[in-house]
Amino acid sequence: MAQFAALLLLLLLSPRTIATPPTTKTALGDDLLATAGSPGFAAWLRGVRRRIHQRPELAFQEHRTSALVRDELDAIGVPYAWPVARTGVVATIAGAGAGDGPGPIVALRADMDALPLQELVEWEYKSQESGKMHACGHDAHVTMLLGAAKLLQSRKDEFKGTVKLVFQPAEEGHAGAYHVLESGALDDISAIFGLHVTSSLPVGAVESRPGPFLSAAARFTATVTGKGGHAAVPHGAVDPVVAVSSSVLSLQQLVARETDPLEAAVVSVTMLRGGEAYNVIPESAALGGTFRSLTDEGLSYLKKRIKQIIEAQAGVNRCAATVDFMEEELRPYPATVNDDGMYAHAKGVAEAMLGESNVRVAAQTMGAEDFAFYGRRAASAFFFIGVGNETTMGAAVQPMHSPYFVIDERALPVGAALHAAVAMEYLNG
Ligand SMILES: *[C@@H]1O[C@H](CO)[C@@H](O)[C@H](O)[C@H]1NC(C)=O
Repeated sequence: MAQFAALLLLLLLSPRTIATPPTTKTALGDDLLATAGSPGFAAWLRGVRRRIHQRPELAFQEHRTSALVRDELDAIGVPYAWPVARTGVVATIAGAGAGDGPGPIVALRADMDALPLQELVEWEYKSQESGKMHACGHDAHVTMLLGAAKLLQSRKDEFKGTVKLVFQPAEEGHAGAYHVLESGALDDISAIFGLHVTSSLPVGAVESRPGPFLSAAARFTATVTGKGGHAAVPHGAVDPVVAVSSSVLSLQQLVARETDPLEAAVVSVTMLRGGEAYNVIPESAALGGTFRSLTDEGLSYLKKRIKQIIEAQAGVNRCAATVDFMEEELRPYPATVNDDGMYAHAKGVAEAMLGESNVRVAAQTMGAEDFAFYGRRAASAFFFIGVGNETTMGAAVQPMHSPYFVIDERALPVGAALHAAVAMEYLNG
């Protein structure tokens, strides 16, 4: 019994009594967090975030934001490639730590664009651009990644290999990530990590999940053409309004009758147009919307069936339909699927830094992210990071894309430190 107790005591004490090497995950995480959270560093992060917040720019127009990123990288002494995919910046920090050969290359990613939305939060650093707002936290993402650049640059001797920091354009609907990959700037990476703020988690907490995480998403629009005429003489016209109405109802069966109930799919018709007068049957009518699935195969299936259904319903009603998926301008996003190994890596780093209870398992959601494109090229993990607090997470919690969206800026050092730790541990692991 005594022997057993002694063994137990030894086991309990061993992590502390055996000299801990300075590079344990916990020590590194604590160190990075302490640096990023120190008053001067945190004030710099807040300042950067507020400058970006005041000058939001829409997809592919992030010229001022891109210049701010380059100025800060110049000040830190980090080299970069620019322009990548028009406004994007890809910075490179090569480790100088001991190790054979050049070592692996890992990427960290932030998106730079804002939303076409009027900010309704009254505060000192409110958006100064009418009708534009950082309501999805990309201002925080850019700031966190600049923070990581500063941390990594000051610790180059502590890792081998290379970190690429990706400041990408046009996440909101315009597939900036796809264009960054097309540029070839990330051809040599073996893994990539991304963070997205969420107002439903408190500062200091993160969440994600292995495997399929966020939805694949695409859009459709269709025009159904019949023959216009007097509303009092329906038999002399071919009514496209009825044809479009049949399509709207038939499309609902895709989820209700053709999708495995244990899989997720969305078909939402969000636009209907047709007719100008009470007594005129219009020549044509139109509908459009979004469709989503947690798998790329599911998305292809929906796409094929949406076209068939709209064309067939038009035919039944003696109309003709053209269905357009607008893929050239608005490239569909694949599903965001976390690589099991990269997810486990980032989760371990986050647990060591933030504590196990602050690293949660996220639910799958039907929101989409162009980070998914990177996941097709390299082992990837995408995490949500909390920006909520007691006040903002109360009854009136404001979700992303709300004109009242706010973040608690104490999350900025957490994001910066987490980015840096995930990269350093990956390269040294
Ligand atoms: C919570 O976040 C809001 C929004 O940024 C901020 O105004 C408030 O001061 C924060 N509350 C605390 C307790 O820090």
